[in-house]
Amino acid sequence: MMRTRTTIPRSVIADVEQRVRRLCEDLAAKLQFHGWHHVSFVRDKAVHFARRNGAAEDICEVAALVHDLNYMVRRNSLPTDGEALRRKTLFVAGVCIGDIEWIERIVIEAEMRTRHRDISLEAQALSDADTLFKALPVTPVVLAHKYLQENGITLRELAHKIVGEQVGKADDGYYFYDAEAAATYTKWAETNLSLWKCIVESLDDPCVEDLLTKVAS
Ligand SMILES: [Fe+2]
Repeated sequence: MMRTRTTIPRSVIADVEQRVRRLCEDLAAKLQFHGWHHVSFVRDKAVHFARRNGAAEDICEVAALVHDLNYMVRRNSLPTDGEALRRKTLFVAGVCIGDIEWIERIVIEAEMRTRHRDISLEAQALSDADTLFKALPVTPVVLAHKYLQENGITLRELAHKIVGEQVGKADDGYYFYDAEAAATYTKWAETNLSLWKCIVESLDDPCVEDLLTKVAS
């Protein structure tokens, strides 16, 4: 017999939110890119996409709140580096063990580097929200340099990371999972990926490299 699942109470979700927000505020100087502005955007959009695709909204909301805790553990890290902090944050807020396990799986499934066409509906909602943040036209203009500062990487490394991780998904037709997101935001995503491909190309010009060295010094 199928048991109906008890959704995570609003008070518990609010507790998770408060804990993550406090961590973001305490570490704001180190989280120029993955701070509360990113987490709250991804949370709002993940809930929106969960409503559209029928995923468990409460799970998507909490997964979005904790999906980038790894950046509080170590700069330029992977979602797996945040597992212990995620589990602790969820446990002390009162999320049950079964839901903690589920949320952990979703965060790992939705990771841009390794996600594939057939991830769960919850991971799709989280992925579309996080991917949309990357594809926003304002992100390369006002946030890309903050990503470099936060993670201690070069523009060349970031450009190769974006092109290497994202172009294949766009070419294979699952950059966004949600049809409405794809219809609405593909133009932004294509423009963004074109820009990053052009940045990779431009870095082959020694004069551009020299220019960047001078700007940085
Ligand atoms: Fe994120």
